[in-house]
Amino acid sequence: MPVITAIEDLKRLHKRRVPRMFFDYCESGSYTEQTFRDNVSDFGKLRLRQKVAVDMSNRTIAGTMLGQPVTMPLALAPVGFTGMQSADGEIKAARAAEAFGVPFTLSTMSICSIEDVAAHTSAPFWFQLYVMKDWDFVASALDRARKAGCSALVLTLDLQIMGQRHKDLKNGLSAPPKPTLANIIDIATKWRWAVGMARTKRHSFGNIVGHAKGVKDLSSLGSWTAEQFDPQLDWGKIARIRDMWGGKLILKGVLDEDDARRAADFGADAMIVSNHGGRQLDGALSSIRRLPSIARAVGDQVEVWMDGGIRSGQDVLKALAMGAKATMIGRSYIYGLGALGQAGVSAALEVIRKEIDTTMALCGERDIAKFGAHNLMIPMDFEGDWKD
Ligand code: GLV
Repeated sequence: MPVITAIEDLKRLHKRRVPRMFFDYCESGSYTEQTFRDNVSDFGKLRLRQKVAVDMSNRTIAGTMLGQPVTMPLALAPVGFTGMQSADGEIKAARAAEAFGVPFTLSTMSICSIEDVAAHTSAPFWFQLYVMKDWDFVASALDRARKAGCSALVLTLDLQIMGQRHKDLKNGLSAPPKPTLANIIDIATKWRWAVGMARTKRHSFGNIVGHAKGVKDLSSLGSWTAEQFDPQLDWGKIARIRDMWGGKLILKGVLDEDDARRAADFGADAMIVSNHGGRQLDGALSSIRRLPSIARAVGDQVEVWMDGGIRSGQDVLKALAMGAKATMIGRSYIYGLGALGQAGVSAALEVIRKEIDTTMALCGERDIAKFGAHNLMIPMDFEGDWKD
């Protein structure tokens, strides 16, 4: 096994080992990719405050998310096409998360189905829902998630229409890839991936095919989304889904204080400050810049989490210090999955765990719950001075 010391190592291997269309799918933002880049680079503008001569024995980085114990305040975010990064990818990621003691979220647009993941794990996972026009599909997805023991529903609010990702169109992204000459040449150099794929039957969207009416060809995610996703999703419909689900509800994709207050008043159990990894509204501010004002707007009314740009344990700590109770990672674990399968997801989690632990100690903290704004140096203009 190659020596992995940082998430960047996994990204390099992922790029080398996985067909280009799937690496590109992961490593894309929409349009100019400004928000995608800012999500990462804005973390670099925050600095940590070094503290010395403080007892750093008996450290703890454990916490809770929705009252559920977690070994560190981080969950795996829902990511489409995960089972195309590595054969049976969702099962591998869910198993790595379970062994590590952090939650896994299964995307509606996953390759392994809800039932597949449930059959290969024992810890309850979370299910992420995209709201379709077809309410029979929504009702049946919720029912399937309930039967599979999913302990929370993550409702994504920021992708009822899809921001364009240029590379996906140019690469002809599809699951499975079409047998074009370019794909055949590319896959011929990605033998590990190909051997894994030859050994599994899971090659298409397991939650959709055979479950949604009239859906046979899902090959163009963009056009399928345009046809099937419900553009009329509003707070009334969100309430309908909350009532149909009846369990813990996490609202994902909040980037604005008014929306955050609305989500808190609505009674969500948690909200995720997110711009969908820079894949939707290009030109939006990064999640880390929007986080503090949203956290201030809702106070303790609801758990505020964030995703977008986390590539290290230092980033996790910065997010906590800026007001998040917990974090989610997408690309950071997908790099690991593409690089080394389940072991790569475990490696990504272990890299982040160690970085959190060491960095917290060097900041003079022993309990992650106490990590706060006092541990950070924040540029005066970080949140921006914007005209109303
Ligand atoms: C889907 O969630 C995507 O961002 O591609």
